[in-house]
Order: sequence, then structure tokens, then C-alpha cells
Amino acid sequence: MRTRRKKWAAPYLADHQEIAVNEEALPSLLENLPHPLYLEVGAGKGAFMAQMAPRLGGSYLCLERDETAAASLLRKVVEEDIKGVYLAPTDLDYLENYLPKDAFAGIFMNFPDPWPKKRHEKRRLCYQPRLKLLASLLKPGALLALKTDSDVFYEFAKEQLPADCLEIVLDEPDYQFDPSGDAQSEYEIKKREAGFKIHRLLLRRI
Ligand SMILES: C[S@@+](CC[C@H](N)C(=O)[O-])C[C@H]1O[C@@H](n2cnc3c(N)ncnc32)[C@H](O)[C@@H]1O
Repeated sequence: MRTRRKKWAAPYLADHQEIAVNEEALPSLLENLPHPLYLEVGAGKGAFMAQMAPRLGGSYLCLERDETAAASLLRKVVEEDIKGVYLAPTDLDYLENYLPKDAFAGIFMNFPDPWPKKRHEKRRLCYQPRLKLLASLLKPGALLALKTDSDVFYEFAKEQLPADCLEIVLDEPDYQFDPSGDAQSEYEIKKREAGFKIHRLLLRRI
């Protein structure tokens, strides 16, 4: 997803560096945050974060590479005064050396860009090197929760699963939303309204 570029986004991100941190600042920030730590990859405008972060407690890091979406998420954090949430407004691929290993109690991936064409499959967030990176960030036994409406992405995620570090604990091809332990992102709301079946995988770090 690429949102229309908004002029206010870059200055707004620059004005809130206590929440929107650049990659160099991440290691020392994360070292000092209250645990448990959670990570959301491709967090969009933050609807999921706004519901889950207060429920989970601890600290919650959002990654979002689209500048305008990242700024919208940040504005939500600031205006709704959501505590314990931080944002890295950049691409997961740039963060390999800045995120701590064996540290996160949970990772969320909601409706990642499906990149449905075969020639683009390496761009998918579930391409095996990215799944390996995400697995290495989780504490052993912790979960990565993935939701998508894309059949292609869902099947590819299972194909790409690095068997030495992630196992499937739940595979729900037609996931019925459970509000007690979950929340809906902007995309989930849109896709459900449009009648799409939602697939969910819960993957455990071995
Ligand atoms: C289809 S949107 C879904 C947004 C939100 N998760 C939701 O469910 O409403 C996918 C989002 O992931 C972001 N994204 C895709 N690849 C990313 C990456 N490698 N690192 C960080 N963000 C990424 C995109 O910029 C986009 O905002």
C-alpha cells in the first residue's frame, strides 16, 4: 500500500523523535523499554495498534515504511495519548542489525502487501529470509500472528516457513474474528466488509 504523500508527514515525524525513532536510535531505546516487547510489521495507519497496545501492556514497536501511513499512525499515538508505543518509519529490510534477537513476546503481521505476481514473490514479507529474521527476533516459544485475505500470500507463507525456527500452531483458512484476543486493522475491516475470507496463521518460534 502506498498512501498519497502528504506534505505534513515528514515534518510531523521529525517533530516527534521521542516516538518516531530512526534506526540508529533503536537498539538503545529497545534495551531500556519495559517488557514484554511487541512488534507490528507494516502497521499502516495504526488501527490495530491503537486497540492492542493498551491491552497488551509493556512496549509496542510499529514498523511502517510508507511515510504518510507512518505519520498517520504517529498522529494517532499522540492525539489519543497511547502509552508505550514507538514507531520505526522505515523498511524491515533496513533493520536487521538494529533489532534485538530473542527479545519480542509477539509479532503481528496484518494484511501485508500480497505482491501476487510470481516475479514479485521475493518482495513479500513472508519470503523466507524475512520470516527467518522475524523468527530470530522472537523469544523461543513466542508467536508471530499473520492475517491476510490473499490466497497467494497465505500459501506462499506456508511454503516459505523456515522449519528449523518456526512451526505452525494454528492454521485457519477461514478465520472467524475473535475480539477477546485480537483486533481488526483498517484492511481487515475493509476486506471483511467486501466479503473476503480471512486467513490466519499462528507461528511459534522454536
Ligand atoms: C496492505 S497494507 C496493510 C496495513 C495494515 N497492516 C492493515 O492491515 O490495515 C501493508 C502495509 O505494510 C507496509 N509495508 C510493506 N512492506 C513493509 C516493510 N518491508 N517494512 C515496513 N513496512 C512495510 C506498507 O507500507 C503498508 O502500509
